[in-house]
Amino acid sequence: MPRPAQSPRPRPVRVLLPALACVGLSLGLTACSNSKPELPTKEGTEPTAIEAIPNMNAPADSNAPADSSQADAAARERPDPHSFSRPDQVRVEHMGLSWTVDFDAETLTGDAVLLLDRVDPKAPLILDSRDLDIKGVYAATLPAEMVAKGEHGIPELSPKAVRASEAFAETKFEVLAAQTDPDLGSAVVVQLPAEANAVKLTYATRPGATGLQWLEPAQTAGKAHPFLYSQSQAIHGRSWIPCQDSPGVRTTWDAEVVVDGGLTAVMAAEQLGRVVPEGDDPEATPKADEAQTFRFVMPQRVPAYLVAIGVGALERREVGARTAVWADPKVVAAAADEFADMEAMLGSAEQLYGEYAWGRYDVLVLPPAFPFGGMENPRLTFATPTILAGDRSLVSLIAHELAHSWSGNLVTNSTWGDLWLNEGFTVYFERRIVEAIYGAEQAEIEAVIGKRELVAELADAEGLGAKPQYQVLDADLIGEDPDDYFSGVPYEKGYLFLRALETAYGREVFDTFLRDWFDSHAFGAVNTEEFRKFVGEKLVGAHQTVEGAKAVDLDAWISGPGLPEGAPEPVAEVLATIESEAKAFAAGDMAPKALSSKTWSPWLWLHFLRSLPEGLTAEQLASLDEAYSLTASTNNEILGQWLVLAATARYEPAYARMESFLIEVGRRKFLTPIYRALAATEDGKAQAKAIYEKARPGYHAISRRTLDEVIGFAG
Ligand code: BES
Ligand code: ZN
Repeated sequence: MPRPAQSPRPRPVRVLLPALACVGLSLGLTACSNSKPELPTKEGTEPTAIEAIPNMNAPADSNAPADSSQADAAARERPDPHSFSRPDQVRVEHMGLSWTVDFDAETLTGDAVLLLDRVDPKAPLILDSRDLDIKGVYAATLPAEMVAKGEHGIPELSPKAVRASEAFAETKFEVLAAQTDPDLGSAVVVQLPAEANAVKLTYATRPGATGLQWLEPAQTAGKAHPFLYSQSQAIHGRSWIPCQDSPGVRTTWDAEVVVDGGLTAVMAAEQLGRVVPEGDDPEATPKADEAQTFRFVMPQRVPAYLVAIGVGALERREVGARTAVWADPKVVAAAADEFADMEAMLGSAEQLYGEYAWGRYDVLVLPPAFPFGGMENPRLTFATPTILAGDRSLVSLIAHELAHSWSGNLVTNSTWGDLWLNEGFTVYFERRIVEAIYGAEQAEIEAVIGKRELVAELADAEGLGAKPQYQVLDADLIGEDPDDYFSGVPYEKGYLFLRALETAYGREVFDTFLRDWFDSHAFGAVNTEEFRKFVGEKLVGAHQTVEGAKAVDLDAWISGPGLPEGAPEPVAEVLATIESEAKAFAAGDMAPKALSSKTWSPWLWLHFLRSLPEGLTAEQLASLDEAYSLTASTNNEILGQWLVLAATARYEPAYARMESFLIEVGRRKFLTPIYRALAATEDGKAQAKAIYEKARPGYHAISRRTLDEVIGFAG
């Protein structure tokens, strides 16, 4: 059963100061002494806001009410406007994470032990958080043997022996809520004793944590066990880990996770497996009614948005030597079959841009509530089950997430305004993998479809068309929620920009250039300006354009809205034929059976459906449905598009399927256009509202946020 509604966007947290908090800290930061901490002067006094801390939201002397322009100015001064952290002062180097997963309370409870690099020995530690229940903060000078690298090449700080170390002594901290930008959450400012090299935060998450989704058994394939997963990109990591939540800050980490018997925990890390209690037979099946502990190490440095967890009834199945799938026992065989090409994809990716840096590449198939298609959590891509089409037709999504192992995970956008450096690069790389494995025509088909979507989005007067500031590759997202920048721009415009460079300089030169980009920025963060310089030096300044090629206008691509003139025009002839058949069918000049559909792959079907002009009647849809059983399609891309048409044309025979799809599937990309199409007519609007009310409790916070707006849902 869907769970009860949670509020979609937690209101700004006005945190009550914990007894030990140091009020003075918020004013001078260094003003705290080790003397008895002060308490807020008056009961009910509002906690000090971040506005009071230099470069947090506003100037230090500001006692004025929240002012977004001051907050924006302060954000601009920080290394990453979407993080309160100051890694230039105190940098978290390693995290030791330990939690108990409580499905009844919908909380993670435990500790985060953070190892610090005190760049500025006087500065406090500033962490990001969002609606965390922080119970205590402790500082320690951990002895060298405790912080030394262990057998996995990193310190291991999650085991109890470290967490319980007597070296930890309570220290003062303050949780300061962002007044003007609730999406940023709150800063946790921790006072550090002179010699401290580590901090421990004891805390619990709250049930509404935006980075976690807690699912009922009914929302899983097996229907018997609950499920938990995280989705931290862009700034949701702070809702379940107190951390420096900026893509420019990388840490290694280790974790220990306690779950109920019968459940398995996996993380985007090396899975060390279940801890067998001393004296137990390691071969014996663990008892279903006994809690189990799982351990993980992440020996490569990663930003916080790439820390990820999944807990549920999970089974693992090998795909290749370095690849495997994790999924509900009911779908694991289908998933392993669907993703059979994973190992080959990994090989061709390495051929293109260099050695895979992460050891294994596994995929966790999530329940259908997952709001995205895929998420590139390192070593363990999280994927929607809606790509299990039975014919491997939708696996370019896996190519995409795999490609992120280079573009994104190895070389990471330094702020969310540089998202195209992750996503545009990845779309380019994904299509090169698709080309290598499935042929140039397939890659080109995907490129044509991608560009069409982008062009449509840019022309949408109610959407991206009205927001030129979101049409550029170097977006200024100060004061904005980075989730709102998600569109075809970082993806397809980014792709076309790289393709324009490839065309201008030739593939060989461009491939060398890209490989150089990855090699020279590995395990680092990059911004758009650095890319521009790199292109200037390594391409424009070092190579001639190929004969007949026009120079690429870097400024227009990077900072201009829309698509520059002369943008690459991918072509696939087969698509042109399909487009003319779509027109002929719509005009009544071609019967459904006369379509050349026998040879159509799902992608070509998708293109056909997307090419149908507006104004189709329910009768026309009925004729297509009769010939091709589209309402019963098991390919979710086709079904999703078909349901958009059905909603628009008010094609009733598809309503039941539409409702079950909208309730079961939480993938925002499918939901948004269907609800939009429904909301365009009066009776459709009523239908949309009724379905949404039932479906919303099962949706992830990210999908809810988008759909609340589409439906006009006020909570
Ligand atoms: N990293 C993204 C998902 C993402 C982007 C989450 C921005 C939060 C903010 C992931 O790699 C992705 O792009 N997923 C796509 C699939 C892909 C084939 C285009 C998706 O989920 O649709
Ligand atoms: Zn991506």
